[in-house]
Amino acid sequence: MSDTTAWNRDTDPTLGEVLITSEQLHTRIAELGAAITADYAGEAPLLVGVLKGAFMFMADLSRTIDLPVEFDFMAVSSYGSATKTSGVVRIVKDLDADLTGRHVLLVEDIIDSGLTLTYLRKNLTSRNPASLEVCALLARADTVERSDLRYVGFAIPDDFVLGFGLDVAERYRNLDEIRVYRGPS
Ligand code: IMP
Ligand code: MG
Repeated sequence: MSDTTAWNRDTDPTLGEVLITSEQLHTRIAELGAAITADYAGEAPLLVGVLKGAFMFMADLSRTIDLPVEFDFMAVSSYGSATKTSGVVRIVKDLDADLTGRHVLLVEDIIDSGLTLTYLRKNLTSRNPASLEVCALLARADTVERSDLRYVGFAIPDDFVLGFGLDVAERYRNLDEIRVYRGPS
């Protein structure tokens, strides 16, 4: 493990400017939760979180949804470098739940190229859910217009970002804000 004795989030040169503050995140997440609560009234939606990036968003979002939600998780890996996806997606951990007849809400950290979402949508649709919608915390300005993205927290520019679940090489997921990555690519 690298030396962390002098590490401090205010002096780490990898951490660039704050793009979305903690307060902005929590305000927007509450709005998304209210919209989901209204849209799924009378239902018990199944929240499907995509590990690991969505774990923090999913935890906070779910606490703002006033419905009997259930949880499941899957993990995918997409080949590529630390900051670029190749679009070749593989399921590393599959769901426990049977999706047949369920109202499934896929919860994602960020829609970047959208290739992961395209793959997951096709894969999950083949399991015959009653409905399948997507809620992403972040989406790039050019993917946010995708018609299959029902709920989006924030449209962001192309900078690689960190925090609130999002990582570089497994670090920085615990930041309670979204910051720009300023390290090596
Ligand atoms: P896509 O298939 O290009 O949409 O990539 C989606 C996945 O790439 C996300 O679920 C993230 O895990 C990762 N990713 C894309 N952009 C970023 C970023 O700016 N920071 C951290 N992870 C990212
Ligand atoms: Mg990642």
